[in-house]
Amino acid sequence: MKLATPLSEKFGISVPIIQAPMAGGPTTQELVAACSGAGALGSFGFAATQPEEMKKQSAWVRSKTDRPFGINLFTSAQPQQIDAAAQRGALEAVAGYYKELGLPPPEPVNAPYAPDLEAQLDAVEEIRPRVFTVHLAALPEERLKRVKAKAILLGGSATCVAEAKRLESLGFDFVIAQGGEAGGHRGSYLRDPYQSLTGTLALVRLIVRAVRVPVVAAGGIMDGAGIAAALALGAQAAQLGTAFIPCPESSAPQAHKDALLAAREDDTRLTEKFSGKPARGLANRFITEMNAKNAPQLAFPAQNSVTGKLRQASARAGKPDFIALWAGQAAPLSRAMPAAELIKVLDEETVSAIRGAASFLKD
Ligand SMILES: Cc1cc2nc3c(=O)[nH]c(=O)nc-3n(C[C@H](O)[C@H](O)[C@H](O)COP(=O)(O)O)c2cc1C
Repeated sequence: MKLATPLSEKFGISVPIIQAPMAGGPTTQELVAACSGAGALGSFGFAATQPEEMKKQSAWVRSKTDRPFGINLFTSAQPQQIDAAAQRGALEAVAGYYKELGLPPPEPVNAPYAPDLEAQLDAVEEIRPRVFTVHLAALPEERLKRVKAKAILLGGSATCVAEAKRLESLGFDFVIAQGGEAGGHRGSYLRDPYQSLTGTLALVRLIVRAVRVPVVAAGGIMDGAGIAAALALGAQAAQLGTAFIPCPESSAPQAHKDALLAAREDDTRLTEKFSGKPARGLANRFITEMNAKNAPQLAFPAQNSVTGKLRQASARAGKPDFIALWAGQAAPLSRAMPAAELIKVLDEETVSAIRGAASFLKD
């Protein structure tokens, strides 16, 4: 039996599953092609990717599959150059770790701290993916009109009802209800992220009741039972991030994959210390120590430049201590299998979970 929702049919996918965009690590062109080729929506997390590279990787996916895929960008404002003197505390906070990993002392980091957003948006218009989603902010009206005029379906992350309603009123085609369980950065943009931690079960229901556009559920969904639950709540697709990190097609460091496969309940924490914005990951030495001393940090995403060398050196050394081990709260349900196989299993599990729930119906 085939699972289809109005939104999955609009996307042109054969299972209502979105491989979450994951910038700066897990998402590769191989992962996107494998997921889209298997009938789900593969998605690029291009927040840290230069426009030319965005075009190159998108063309590569198109050379492997004619199935639709998505692109995601961070649309939040960039900080200006941060004065070297104002960086001192943040650099001192990580200097000991740099030394421990045999790195030269950290130096002030220079703007731009991320690729030029306008040029990235131009690239999206040129690539014309089937789906484009934004994270950490909405999209200026003029750009939104241009994207939609290209027949690209536009979605955005919402971590509270107000954000979902704002996206709908701006003309977004769908919203992603991202619950507090979600791994990585959550897309809060109207409220304090710490005041927007409603769990996926409650958030999906609240947003489905508040907007008319289709809703995608994200956060803590790792298997078909989770997808079936999201559909029962009224979501029209599920977006899974952590579930795809252990796949061989993901470029997450092996230490990250191993940590997910060994994760236990309650192992995740929120931290701002890697990037400057709160994100959820498995607790490791960096998170525990930096959170405990509330170490100084630079604004998002400049703090990424402060911790980047540390994360890379830690990954090269096969040490999980200083890697951003992003993970959702259901990380203990992680499994390592090729992405296409995972999608097949997720599809079968979803159908069987729906049948299982229906078996409780009595005349
Ligand atoms: C490693 C990692 C990186 C992420 N990067 C992005 C991103 O670039 N853009 C985005 O919209 N969401 C990003 N997310 C959030 C996902 O879109 C999704 O909401 C989340 O993974 C769902 O929770 P789960 O990890 O429990 O499945 C990221 C999540 C992870 C785990």
